Amino acid sequence: MNNTDIISKTIAFVKKQLENAEGGHDWFHIERVYKNALLIAKEEVCNLQVVQLSALLHDIADSKFHGGDESVGPKVARTFLESQNVTEDVIIHVIEIISNISFKGGNFEKKFKSIELDIVQDADRLDAIGAIGIARAFNYGGFKNRALYNPEIVPNTNMTIEEYKKSQAPTLNHFYEKLLLLKDKMNTSTGKKIAKERHRFMESFLAQFYAEWDGEK
Ligand code: ADP
Ligand code: NI
Repeated sequence: MNNTDIISKTIAFVKKQLENAEGGHDWFHIERVYKNALLIAKEEVCNLQVVQLSALLHDIADSKFHGGDESVGPKVARTFLESQNVTEDVIIHVIEIISNISFKGGNFEKKFKSIELDIVQDADRLDAIGAIGIARAFNYGGFKNRALYNPEIVPNTNMTIEEYKKSQAPTLNHFYEKLLLLKDKMNTSTGKKIAKERHRFMESFLAQFYAEWDGEK
């Protein structure tokens, strides 16, 4: 099977797997990440097949929706890739990428490094910022029944992650804990450039949000 066939089969597989996914993690998220990844890859020397497969398979089974089990996604991806006769070295690389891509790993030294991981991680992060990032954050907050904003609940970095999750922090806090930090975590020059614009858009969104919150004067 040539790479074009493998990619079409992978697209069909991912669409099917994500049929009932919530709005922030659905097929269209994957499609946007895939397109971002191809755009970034154009400027880098990399294995395009690894980039394509990792972008398509990176959210195949999000641990948040599988009782925190982070091993489900990589297992599902491996089983699928083996069925497509993808070479073992490509499978190993794709699995490393989808196991290491999440922001959760962002505070630690990355265990695995490759330009292909850098590319797909940037592509995924771009979809968490800007207009789409804002929409996804509020969608996620709605899914979790969170408040939009509460001036009395400020981002509190002293809590453990577990305590924080239980606190039902309003969605606006997520901007300060994650979304506004992403611009400085980008790996590639294309990613950095796009992130800068999207970051600016979030800042102007926040300024407008607070102005409206306070009411017209
Ligand atoms: P990643 O896969 O990069 O770790 P997540 O799966 O945590 O990202 O997040 C997916 C989407 O949901 C992102 O757009 C993210 O900003 C949003 N999201 C995650 N946690 C929260 C939260 N506590 N409040 C609002 N949005 C969130
Ligand atoms: Ni993603």
